Amino acid sequence: MFAASAVTFSPDEPLTALRLGEHPEPVVPEGWVVVDMRAASVNHHDLWTLKGVGLPAERLPMILGCDAAGLDPDGNEVIVHAVISSGVGYADETVDPRRSLLSEKHQGTFAERVAVPARNLIPKPAWLTWAQAACLPTAWLTAYRMLFTRSGLVPGQTVLIQGAGGGVSTALIMLARQAGFRVWVTSRDEAKRTRAVELGAHDAFASGARLPERVDVVLETVGAATWAHTLRAVRPGGRVVIAGATSGSQPPADLSRIFFLQLSVVGSTMGTRDELERLVAMCGATGLRPLIDHELPLTSADEALGRIAAGDLFGKVVLTR
Ligand SMILES: NC(=O)c1ccc[n+]([C@@H]2O[C@H](COP(=O)([O-])OP(=O)(O)OC[C@H]3O[C@@H](n4cnc5c(N)ncnc54)[C@H](OP(=O)(O)O)[C@@H]3O)[C@@H](O)[C@H]2O)c1
Repeated sequence: MFAASAVTFSPDEPLTALRLGEHPEPVVPEGWVVVDMRAASVNHHDLWTLKGVGLPAERLPMILGCDAAGLDPDGNEVIVHAVISSGVGYADETVDPRRSLLSEKHQGTFAERVAVPARNLIPKPAWLTWAQAACLPTAWLTAYRMLFTRSGLVPGQTVLIQGAGGGVSTALIMLARQAGFRVWVTSRDEAKRTRAVELGAHDAFASGARLPERVDVVLETVGAATWAHTLRAVRPGGRVVIAGATSGSQPPADLSRIFFLQLSVVGSTMGTRDELERLVAMCGATGLRPLIDHELPLTSADEALGRIAAGDLFGKVVLTR
């Protein structure tokens, strides 16, 4: 079958580690099923894999792709939950120490077919397109958990989202606005700040800019480039929720500021199957749909990954077949 795989690692030129071409059919363990892939969205995670972050060399070649929508063996339209748990003992699979995402231990979704645990399938409603459905399991689920499980925000409070154009950031803007929070966003790019406001942000600021007042919660996926601003932006007693560190994960922590202002710094990773079902229900109840920057054929996975690497995006990039 056709697939887009990491065949080596290249920290500086990740696209050179990508191979588009034939790959063996999925191996199907007991309790797993094969999904006929219709759409898979591209995440920064796929770029990390090509750079060699989070994947040991002995697992190569590895098909990229965390999330997908497709047809199960009975022809039902399904969305694939990307978190593969050990299946025992954890009500919240995101804290299972043996969990992985598709494309970490098991082959990913940038392929004609992908094997997944049967328990990881949820029904795809007809009102979501294949491409929209494929945006939910990683970027949108991460945003949902950051906002509604990890942030402690209540309607009327102010949230700052660092970064505007990314898959997670655009999801955060849309979900936060829908939930009744006052939504502030930063971006390096003026055009993206304008688009963030059109998408639902109440205001948008240049990255690092002084804000009119401190916020209740900062949602952080940028990392080193915005961390100092994040700590300056949050009010005493406020909270920072971190789900990513695109620009680097080792900024000065500024511990004094954290204890003196009694800040809470909270990590967040993906989400549970239950949260994915609630996210789908929220899309149904509100009419929200993932913002898609580009749809490309699976055979153009190289172009799609190049767009993520260039950062010149506003919303998700989705591969379809
Ligand atoms: N913990 C988890 O489970 C989880 C799940 C999903 C994603 N993530 C992580 O979250 C991050 C975002 O993922 P994504 O798929 O949304 O990636 P993406 O589409 O590549 O988004 C990149 C975002 O980062 C901002 N950005 C990048 N470099 C920046 C810099 N130097 N200064 C300021 N802003 C910068 C961009 O903002 P502007 O272009 O608007 O300035 C954009 O909003 C990645 O690191 C990813 O690995 C983690």
